[in-house]
Amino acid sequence: MSSTAAPARKPVTLHRLREMHAQGEKITMLTAYDATFARLVDDAGVDSILVGDSLGMTVQGHTSTVPVSLDDMVYHTRCVARGNRTAWVIGDLPFGSYQESREQALRSSIALMQAGAHMVKLEGGGWTAETVHFLTERGVPVCAHLGLTPQSVHALGGYRIQGRDEAGATTLRRHARELADAGAAMMVLELMPSGVAREVQADNPGLMTIGIGAGQGTAGQVLVLHDMLNLTRGKLPRFVRDFTAEGGSAEEAVRRYVAAVKDGSFPDESIHGY
Ligand code: KIV
Repeated sequence: MSSTAAPARKPVTLHRLREMHAQGEKITMLTAYDATFARLVDDAGVDSILVGDSLGMTVQGHTSTVPVSLDDMVYHTRCVARGNRTAWVIGDLPFGSYQESREQALRSSIALMQAGAHMVKLEGGGWTAETVHFLTERGVPVCAHLGLTPQSVHALGGYRIQGRDEAGATTLRRHARELADAGAAMMVLELMPSGVAREVQADNPGLMTIGIGAGQGTAGQVLVLHDMLNLTRGKLPRFVRDFTAEGGSAEEAVRRYVAAVKDGSFPDESIHGY
């Protein structure tokens, strides 16, 4: 891997992401777990890399994200940070690394940020607002995550769409408001009706909502890299598009994803929406 050529763009900062959001430019995000893919995704112009605990499935071969440890996340965040040059890097706090106390969450966040993350992500609403406040007050930018929260797969009874009924949608909106008020700058909205995601964004205009299976009304989109590069075996969720279908290199596929999110042609709610 060559590391001598100058990066083509300035590093993406939180300030720059907020500017993009204020100007109505869609934010692009993909997962990456190693230096090679981090470089590729960065070179292809993705705004933000999520070192997701989805690596439990894509890299480690587990059937859920539950077994992923903080040490695993620190290792992969380091790998990504070495390959990346300009994208905004988000490190996922894995299951068990933030639920115990605000202090535990801070210790785990520091480990991820010292490994190279610019922001941490944690799942769930309600009790997490206090943790988000504690972290943001101490200089840790936070991305929240509502809707389908894969670390709670056993509590949720499977990978199901969330917020489908009135009560569920109301709870999602309340949790989103509490997390935004607590200081979350960004929020992944996973697997929920597009109308609910739109309402969350409208309720919290300054919040950068990033959708995955949540329709077009969010400030940006994220996909698992292995899914959109057609590397995942088995049945993919309906919200995924195979960006390799037109051929070419992996980098070209990622460039197509960036272009499609920026021009609003992905996701197409009639195919990829709920
Ligand atoms: O871990 C992950 O990759 C994620 C995305 C699916 C948003 O949380």
